[in-house]
Amino acid sequence: MDSSQLLCELQIQSHVPKNFIWPKEYLEDAHEELQAPVVDLEGFLKGDNEATQHAAMLINEACLNHGFFQVINHGVDLHLITQAYVQMDTIFKLPLHRKESVYKAPGSMWGYSGAHAHRFSSKLPWKETFSFPYLENAVEPVVTNYFKSTLGDDFEQAGVTFEKYCNAMKELGMNLTELLAISLEVNDRLHYRELFEEGCSIMRCNNYPCCKQPSLVLGTGPHCDPTSITLLHQDQVGGLQVFVDNKWHTVQPLPNAIVVNIGDTFMALSNGRYKSCLHRAVVNQHKQRRSLAFFLCPKEDKVVRPPHDIISRDGTKQYPDFTWSDLLEFTQNYYRADESTLSNFT
Ligand code: SIN
Ligand code: FE2
Repeated sequence: MDSSQLLCELQIQSHVPKNFIWPKEYLEDAHEELQAPVVDLEGFLKGDNEATQHAAMLINEACLNHGFFQVINHGVDLHLITQAYVQMDTIFKLPLHRKESVYKAPGSMWGYSGAHAHRFSSKLPWKETFSFPYLENAVEPVVTNYFKSTLGDDFEQAGVTFEKYCNAMKELGMNLTELLAISLEVNDRLHYRELFEEGCSIMRCNNYPCCKQPSLVLGTGPHCDPTSITLLHQDQVGGLQVFVDNKWHTVQPLPNAIVVNIGDTFMALSNGRYKSCLHRAVVNQHKQRRSLAFFLCPKEDKVVRPPHDIISRDGTKQYPDFTWSDLLEFTQNYYRADESTLSNFT
């Protein structure tokens, strides 16, 4: 049976298989929309000081509250985003045996994961994912080579498209580190940027098939991102939700916008001022949903520590120093120990 058959079968079943059903306490509905600003980056990208201060002010407010905002006029070619979805669809439409040949082993970061195909635990997420590493300016193009070596030469073009997509996301992410520094009134706006140069980032394609009983399942279970900044493009179906003030809130998809959220590592870099907030993704009864997540990560051996001016203003340092590789190891062990949440992040 190929994977689309398998997914179709699950989609037409009126009863959701038991291990996809989440406990009631996880399934409370969202009734309100998240109050998250839509930040226009055009002025900032052109070097306009007033527009930069305004963008930084909106970001500051959002990050103090919950760490989510959306950006428009972000400089990423919209055609490239469309192309990334086209290539992602070709991957997810492959027969299951092809996707399984790139199977992401538990604890590993890279490859294909389809809970539909691997019913190994309870509380399975209703999604399939494909994750791969990205490193800019590498001697060999990392993404293209990953696609070729795992999926074969036919996927070279898909690799090239995602290499470009990741280049664009990395550039946007680096620009956002400057805006975040400005928003935190850090004297040196390049302070954070330096930490992320030559860092290996994570790219993940998410495919959420529709489900006859969406109120029983979750596409992605509740979690905080351990990474620094997540740049998420979601299609127009909607499903991303954020837990604020003890309630789930929806994040409405906006055409051409990219959702940005603060992860645990940036929370530490801001000395705990900026929130890394619990979020999840729900699925839809009638429509398949897709999203593209780029996780900006520091260079593995760089020490994660807030800038001096923040520490001296706050008087204390909230977290011990750590490196991204320390946190990664901790995260991997944590998810290994709790297999049921394995597919949420790793
Ligand atoms: C989403 O698909 O909207 C979010 C996925 C995630 O947070 O991992
Ligand atoms: Fe996430």
